Amino acid sequence: MEVIIQPTPIAGAKVGARIVENLLRKKPRAVLGLATGSTPLGLYRELIRMHHEDGLDFSQVTTFNLDEYVGLSAEHPASYHRYMDENFFDHVNISQERIHIPDGTTPDIPAFCAQYEAEIHNAGGIDLQILGIGHDGHIGFNEPSSSLASHTRIKTLAKETIEANQRFFSSAKEVPHHVITMGIGTIMEAQTCLLLAFGDTKAQAVAAMAEGPVTAMCPASALQFHRQTVLIVDEPAGGLLKRAEYYRHVYANKPKFQEVSSFMPR
Ligand code: PGA
Repeated sequence: MEVIIQPTPIAGAKVGARIVENLLRKKPRAVLGLATGSTPLGLYRELIRMHHEDGLDFSQVTTFNLDEYVGLSAEHPASYHRYMDENFFDHVNISQERIHIPDGTTPDIPAFCAQYEAEIHNAGGIDLQILGIGHDGHIGFNEPSSSLASHTRIKTLAKETIEANQRFFSSAKEVPHHVITMGIGTIMEAQTCLLLAFGDTKAQAVAAMAEGPVTAMCPASALQFHRQTVLIVDEPAGGLLKRAEYYRHVYANKPKFQEVSSFMPR
C-alpha cells in the first residue's frame, strides 16, 4: 500500500484528482468506481475544474458507484444518485448511459446485485476505485464483520453509521437501515484503489486499516491484500500512523517513473 500524507484535505484531493486525470488521459474509456460522503467532494471539485479548464474528457468514461440506500429513489434528496448528480455528473460531460448506481427501489435486490456485478465485469472491470473510510473501518457500506470476499448485496447499517449519516437527512428516523453495496471482494477486484481520509476522527480507522491486522472487524484492512492501493490522508487523519516518516520518505524520493503523474492504467 502506498501512503501519501498531505498537509490539507485540498492538497490530498488534488493528488487524488491527478491520479484520476492521469488514468483518463491514458485510457479515455476507463471505468471508475465512485464513492459518496463528505470525503470525495474536494476530489470531484478538482475533477470538475480540470474538465472546464484543462479539457479533461469524461465522454467515454463508465462509472459504477459503491452503494445506495434501499428504499430511496434516485430523486430523493438524500439518495446517493442525487449526490452524484449534484456534486459531479451534472458538471462534466459524462454520458448518462455509462453511469451505474445501485437502484434503491429495485423490486428484486438479489437479482439486481447479480446484474450489477455482471455489468462491472462486462465493462472490463473497474480501473480505479475511489473510496472513503468510515470511523469503524467500513468501505462502501461493508460494516465490520462483512465477509472479506463479499460481492454486491444488501447490508444492514450499523447504529453508528446511521448516526454518522443522519446529517444528510432531517432526522435519524429517516435514515434507511438497509443499503445495497459493492462487497469487499468487488472492491478488491478493482485494478487500483484510491482511499481518501481526512480529519482526526478518521485517524484510528486509517491506522487500523493500513497498519493493523487484516480482519473483518476493520473491513478496509482487506486492502493490505490489494495489489495497488493508494491511501491519501491529511496530517490529522495520518496522525496515528507508526510508519509516517517512512511514507513521507518514500513519497519524497520516488523514482520519476513511479510518480503520481506517471500512474499506469492496465
Ligand atoms: P464520509 O464517509 O466521507 O462522509 O466521512 C465515509 C464513509 O462512511 O465511508
